[in-house]
Amino acid sequence: MSDEKTPKGQLVIQILAMPADTNANGDIFGGWLVSHMDMGAAIAARRRAKSRVVTVAIDEMAFLKPVYVGDTVCCYADIVKVGHTSLKIKIEVWSMGLQTTDQKQVAQGYFTFVAIDEERKPHLVDR
Ligand SMILES: CC(C)(COP(=O)(O)OP(=O)(O)OC[C@H]1O[C@@H](n2cnc3c(N)ncnc32)[C@H](O)[C@@H]1OP(=O)(O)O)[C@@H](O)C(=O)NCCC(=O)NCCS
Repeated sequence: MSDEKTPKGQLVIQILAMPADTNANGDIFGGWLVSHMDMGAAIAARRRAKSRVVTVAIDEMAFLKPVYVGDTVCCYADIVKVGHTSLKIKIEVWSMGLQTTDQKQVAQGYFTFVAIDEERKPHLVDR
């Protein structure tokens, strides 16, 4: 049966979970997921700021359900706040097994980026 909820935001990453990405329990390692969430959020932040960005904070990271080898993992990005030089992006992670077309939400978190110039100094997002 489908989750009643549906993903919020723009699809920024779609990747297959592989055996090399597992933890000691044989499920997918949380750090692997966070790395892809950070990358997906960076794609959305760079697109919005039209410049380089760096991650300054990760908040309210939550792992809701396990991810298994062979699952298709999708990251959805929603820009929830644009500050002076910073952008806060909510990432929802949804996964889908091989035997089903139903997606379930497995993780979420808020990623804050700062837009930086060539000298790595913060600059206004809206210039
Ligand atoms: C990001 C960085 C350039 C910011 O430089 P800074 O001189 O500290 O900048 P500021 O204090 O002026 O903060 C810049 C913005 O970030 C926000 N910010 C800073 N720390 C924050 C935090 N912990 N959480 C949320 N926002 C934060 C500030 O509120 C400010 O937002 P605004 O301009 O929209 O109002 C600097 O901290 C840095 O280079 N950090 C390392 C980043 C990095 O390497 N990331 C990859 C990790 S492997």
